[in-house]
Amino acid sequence: MDTISIITLPPSRWSEYKALRLQALENDPAAFATTYQEDAAMPDLQWQDRLQNSEGQKSYMLFAQCEGKVIGMVGALLEQGACVEHKATIVSVYVQPEYRGQGIAKTLMQAIMQLLQANKKIVHVQLTVNSDNASAIKLYESVGFKKVGLLEKLVKVGDDFIDGYMMVNILDKGK
Ligand SMILES: CC(C)(COP(=O)(O)OP(=O)(O)OC[C@H]1O[C@@H](n2cnc3c(N)ncnc32)[C@H](O)[C@@H]1OP(=O)(O)O)[C@@H](O)C(=O)NCCC(=O)NCCS
Repeated sequence: MDTISIITLPPSRWSEYKALRLQALENDPAAFATTYQEDAAMPDLQWQDRLQNSEGQKSYMLFAQCEGKVIGMVGALLEQGACVEHKATIVSVYVQPEYRGQGIAKTLMQAIMQLLQANKKIVHVQLTVNSDNASAIKLYESVGFKKVGLLEKLVKVGDDFIDGYMMVNILDKGK
């Protein structure tokens, strides 16, 4: 197996992030909360801003890199405001099809959970996943998430609705 490193991307590499996100939306449109068309129309500055802000103030964004190419990613959005700043939401979990089944998503998830564990404010980590996405559900369970509820008609793909699960991982910060 080629060596995989887990990295953050500087804003100057925004076009690689955009290309990976658009590929994810093209390959697995039902797995994400935006469409290819919506993200393709997003201004360059917004991609740069997302990477700029992904060092733990508003979000974290990690990428898996193989031979200089980004081949996977995971993000966490941090809620703002005193009543909710203990909460983070996992987003943008994706590994390119040819690299799947090698533990890369699990390594990405473990790495972002370490960042969240190290962030003193974060206690509640949540995510949503389509109920038919067995590989993602197993992945999340393998890093401590539990299903806490069924979300009827979570996403709309074309004219069809797909149910999903809310999954939560409560971090033990000794309180
Ligand atoms: C879900 C996804 C990120 C998994 O990536 P991956 O790198 O292949 O996952 P890993 O190899 O790290 O596997 C981690 C765990 O996921 C589960 N898993 C992965 N692929 C699986 C499959 N095809 N069937 C069943 N379980 C699977 C396993 O439990 C595995 O743990 P194990 O190796 O201890 O058995 C990848 O399939 C993907 O990008 N899918 C499309 C986008 C998507 O659905 N994202 C999630 C949105 S909520």
